Amino acid sequence: MSAQPARTARKRATPPSLAARAAAGEKLVMVTAYDFPAARAAEKAGVDIVLVGDSGAQVQLGYDSTVPVSLDEMLVLAKAVRRGTTTALVVVDLPFGSYEVSDEQAIATSVRCVKEAGADAVKLEGGGRMATARIRAITDAGIPVMGHVGLTPQTAVALGGFSAQGRTVEAARRVLHDALAVQEAGAFSLVLEAIPSDLAAVIHPRLHIPAIGIGAGSDVDGQVLVLHDLLGLTEGHAAKFVKRYASVLDAMTDGIAAYAAEVRSGAYPAPEHGYAMPDGVLDALEG
Ligand code: KIV
Repeated sequence: MSAQPARTARKRATPPSLAARAAAGEKLVMVTAYDFPAARAAEKAGVDIVLVGDSGAQVQLGYDSTVPVSLDEMLVLAKAVRRGTTTALVVVDLPFGSYEVSDEQAIATSVRCVKEAGADAVKLEGGGRMATARIRAITDAGIPVMGHVGLTPQTAVALGGFSAQGRTVEAARRVLHDALAVQEAGAFSLVLEAIPSDLAAVIHPRLHIPAIGIGAGSDVDGQVLVLHDLLGLTEGHAAKFVKRYASVLDAMTDGIAAYAAEVRSGAYPAPEHGYAMPDGVLDALEG
């Protein structure tokens, strides 16, 4: 008997249902998606949380960092993802510049994510004073917030680049402090990115909200990866924590190359790819 029917019968996940499953020891699965087919695939695979990450700026839209992507661009991606999911919790990343200015700006941005794109929750980066004030304000407005501490790509320049965080006593204390501050501010869950596994193991027992790791080892409640990384849709250097489960870019390239070769040789289209003319129509036309 397949496990799929039970999964497809599931209701959409919610922050409390995910917290209950994590508390029961179930590992939560989160993946990014930026369009309808990817959301469908994540849904069919039984993923618990789909993140419309601002990583889409790079892997989907081709920017060279997450910084330039606009809220309007994120909303287009998020709407497609929402349409592709039925049971996964849809979390939308607040892009850089869309929440830092004031609590009012953060609430207005989050409301757009919920009303226009159908987001179930939003995610924002950081655990300092500004980030925790925004988490509190958005949560007070009734929108669940996922935090994100450790390596925070939107402010990677200030952190000194895309390297693992929390590797000195002082830096480890800062990550622990940020994680607890995000929880205290009312986040329903948080992402721990690129920190030593031992540090995640210290932080995790101090949290009562689910911690989702990416490059944070296995002592957490779940894992997230960027879809394009795990599918092999990205080229060049990959972070240490990336595991590739497929070679989709190669499959796409091979498929398009085979099509191109057949167009050039005349093998495509074959007679069976064309439409037949009903009897007599051609004679009448020529006559
Ligand atoms: O934007 C993103 O993909 C993320 C994940 C790395 C957690 O924030």
